[in-house]
Amino acid sequence: MEKIKIDTSKASSFVPAKDYSTAFNESLKGFKLLFDKMGKGKEFLGWRDLPFQKETEFDQMQEILDSFTAKLDTVVILGIGGSYLGAKSFISALSSNFPQKKKVEILFAGYQIDADYYAELMSYLTGRSFGLVVVSKSGSTLETAIAFRVIKKFMEKQYGKIQAQKRVIAITDERKGYLKEIADMMRYPTFVIPDDVGGRYSVLSPVGLVPISLAGFSIRDLIHGARDFSTSTRATVNNPVLDYVATRYALFQFGKTVELLASFNTKLKYVAEWWKQLFGETEGKEGKGLFPAAAQFTTDLHSLGQFIQDGNPILLETIINVLNAKQNPKIPNDKDNFDYLNYLSGKTLHEINQQALESVVEAHFKGGVPVVQIIMPEINEYFLGQLIYFFELSAATSAYAMDLNPFDQPGVENYKKNLFRRLGRP
Ligand code: PA5
Repeated sequence: MEKIKIDTSKASSFVPAKDYSTAFNESLKGFKLLFDKMGKGKEFLGWRDLPFQKETEFDQMQEILDSFTAKLDTVVILGIGGSYLGAKSFISALSSNFPQKKKVEILFAGYQIDADYYAELMSYLTGRSFGLVVVSKSGSTLETAIAFRVIKKFMEKQYGKIQAQKRVIAITDERKGYLKEIADMMRYPTFVIPDDVGGRYSVLSPVGLVPISLAGFSIRDLIHGARDFSTSTRATVNNPVLDYVATRYALFQFGKTVELLASFNTKLKYVAEWWKQLFGETEGKEGKGLFPAAAQFTTDLHSLGQFIQDGNPILLETIINVLNAKQNPKIPNDKDNFDYLNYLSGKTLHEINQQALESVVEAHFKGGVPVVQIIMPEINEYFLGQLIYFFELSAATSAYAMDLNPFDQPGVENYKKNLFRRLGRP
């Protein structure tokens, strides 16, 4: 089994051996709490079993999805936070950068309340044959609920109430919440978000699997990747999770309070958005945690590059290094050579991108920026499944190492309370 690899050598070397060893022990403590199910929030560890779910259920899911999309050309997925980012990120990672002619186009809404967005969405949907997948564990998240009400009404105007009813799927709690009540009343096909799986750890549940499957990608390969990674990281020896967590923990003690996740692949842009939520909500509490930020290289080397190299030394940089490109155009030779680029003739774009990556690692490391590399053979469902599980295990372990509950998000409630007060919710 080929595995993603983690290279922390250019990061842990910034920390004295005794401090790294203390951090490693904290990381080990966190890992054990997770595996022995003894830590805070232990009732939310269901995500650890998701890679081992029964694949026969995927066939039933596919049947429901096939009949749902039979007459559709567009599906709008409604959700926010953990009920949105996993699907959006991994569909983006697997899709072309440019619009493709597909049987069903996947769009997203419900992850903000931007008036222009909804006006433009409804205008785009006019004349199309669309369906909705509404995702909310609580069933009452305001952004998603508003989007559902607005687009459902629009849908009823387009197709009539009875037809509109056949164009909705709900993904929600098994028993409670307004969405569950509506789904039962309207007889929407419904997929369950398990009680013991929180939003940001839910991408391998129907929350991510239904949209990823609708987009035409292999959820089996995704699950196999996560499963293989899980199986290979049970032991504490040679465990990349322990090493990554210890490196972050140690560097945090030396003032590296921001982790910048960078990649040289446009397809991974949204994976960083998912990762930001995973780490931000898991360890950003009680005045602790590394702030998760993201950059796209080489693009951002021409904007953030100056700060990373020379600015306030608060950064730990984690680079996702994808070793192989699926397609790889070459630089053509040009007999005129007016652009003086013939020294590159015959080289592939991927080769040059990899040289850029090595140059960045060299420059940032020499400049005092610790650099971790996550090395992925290529971007596909299998390795993304591994990456998901690596980050989930690492985030939870890291929060336990910091004596935190990885699975709550008390800070998110404050703005919600204010908003409900201002809107006059009874
Ligand atoms: O991680 C989380 O718990 C949050 O980001 C939630 O997923 C997000 O607020 C959406 O919640 P819900 O699925 O209840 O609509």
